[in-house]
Amino acid sequence: MKKSKGSPSLPAAASEERASSAAVSGWPTPPSPRIAVAIMAAGKGTRLKSQLPKVLHEAGGKPLLEHVIGAAVRVVPAHDVYAIIGHEADRVRAAIGHTGVNFVLQAEQRGTGHALMVAREDLAGYDHVIVLSGDAPMITPETIGHLRNFHLEEEAAMTLLSADLEDPTGYGRVLRKSARSAEVEAIVEEKSASAAQKKVREINSGFYVFAVKELYASIGKLSTENAHAEYYLTDMAAVLSKARQRVVAFKTANAREVLGGNTREELADIDHFMRMSKCRQLMADGVTIFYPATCVIDAEVEIAPDTIVEPYVQLLGKTRIGTACRVRSYSVIRDSKIGDGVIIRTGCVMEESRVSAGAVIGPYSHLRPGSEIGEGAHVGNFVETKKIKLGKGSKANHLTYLGDAEIGAGVNIGAGTITCNYDGFHKHKTVIDDGVFIGSDSTLVAPVRVGKGAYVGAASCITDDVPQDSLAIGRARQVVKEGWARQKRTARKAK
Ligand code: UD1
Ligand code: CA
Repeated sequence: MKKSKGSPSLPAAASEERASSAAVSGWPTPPSPRIAVAIMAAGKGTRLKSQLPKVLHEAGGKPLLEHVIGAAVRVVPAHDVYAIIGHEADRVRAAIGHTGVNFVLQAEQRGTGHALMVAREDLAGYDHVIVLSGDAPMITPETIGHLRNFHLEEEAAMTLLSADLEDPTGYGRVLRKSARSAEVEAIVEEKSASAAQKKVREINSGFYVFAVKELYASIGKLSTENAHAEYYLTDMAAVLSKARQRVVAFKTANAREVLGGNTREELADIDHFMRMSKCRQLMADGVTIFYPATCVIDAEVEIAPDTIVEPYVQLLGKTRIGTACRVRSYSVIRDSKIGDGVIIRTGCVMEESRVSAGAVIGPYSHLRPGSEIGEGAHVGNFVETKKIKLGKGSKANHLTYLGDAEIGAGVNIGAGTITCNYDGFHKHKTVIDDGVFIGSDSTLVAPVRVGKGAYVGAASCITDDVPQDSLAIGRARQVVKEGWARQKRTARKAK
């Protein structure tokens, strides 16, 4: 199979292989099986004790369900993916709708078996359905592909993905017909397991493939006579096995992929694992990350080699950072683009901004959306920017607010400068041309323009445009009253 970036080669479906060999021998090509993915995502997540439905809880910077959908759509197209939702369905739909998958409503959550009962009509047009759990986000497209192939090769009615866990507590256990057999007799849930069954370390991952016809021919035999009074999808193993249908287990070597986020502790473990694997990938690509366990770096972040990320840094969303940069501790950067050789000093917050090569930001700068910092420019401590352009080599080093402003190259913005961009109703623009010097503690009342090379005297309130190369002073002249202080002190003593 041809490999191309972005769509890793998945193991070919057995039917595709069969189809091509059949074609060679002159037989008509059998149609390839129609395969859907159903993702069970209707549960509440009682163990999380949360207002937010379980599948919207995040790990690695994204809702659990979005990870599962991400894996699913690399195996089948989004229009063949069905997310079964129920608890807080509108909220889940709003958060996940952008993925383009179908939604099936399970209005009452009566168990994993019931979730599949509800999807019956939607799945009627398919030959096989791959069933995934919306709360187990580490599943990979490769493993789903292997599971599908195994199912098709085995011509099974039900194939389940299993794994050996050191501590299988809480999971359903896989009871094989015999130790060496691929065939499964039943899955027994933790709560119904005998002491001997609890010793089985092979667990049911909650991922399956079913032949659709066989699934729905027997799903009516599920009952709610169990610890939770729910329809367990896991009981389909015994139901189908008793009906002399083939039920097999495919064991994954990577037990991590099956972990579910049922509790806050499990969510933290999954999140930690995802973050660390992102850091490992970046380090392998030439990025230095000190104390990686303290850094939070989202999956889509890109960083060029020889950039250094210090402890306790968060790089979020689609942030891209060039080569030879240094991001110092306690900075939080979201959806921003940073050029080469940039220094982000301690404690900066940056969102939807661009910083060009060689710029120096911070410590403690706040770059709000739409800030564009030019090459070699400096933005210093306690400077807030929003929707501005700061030209090449310009500096705003201390205690300043710059909003809705276009600032040219080689400009010096003195400490405490404020662009007054808001009149209580509308936002207005401040334009500061190349080479301007704004004295400290000035206020620039927008709309206003300071022309090329002009000076603004310290503590000015500038309300009118300043022509180029001129000096503008907008403050009361200093008054000195000689001897005033001495007189006042003498008067007090006399009282
Ligand atoms: C399930 C399996 C267990 C397996 C484990 C693996 C059953 C009965 N047990 O247990 O054998 O070891 O997964 O993680 O299936 N859901 C619905 N509708 C419902 C109930 C649940 O869509 O009516 C969804 C949940 O949102 C969740 C998934 O199904 O995403 C699994 O349900 P959950 O309650 O987490 O099952 P487990 O107890 O983890
Ligand atoms: Ca679960």
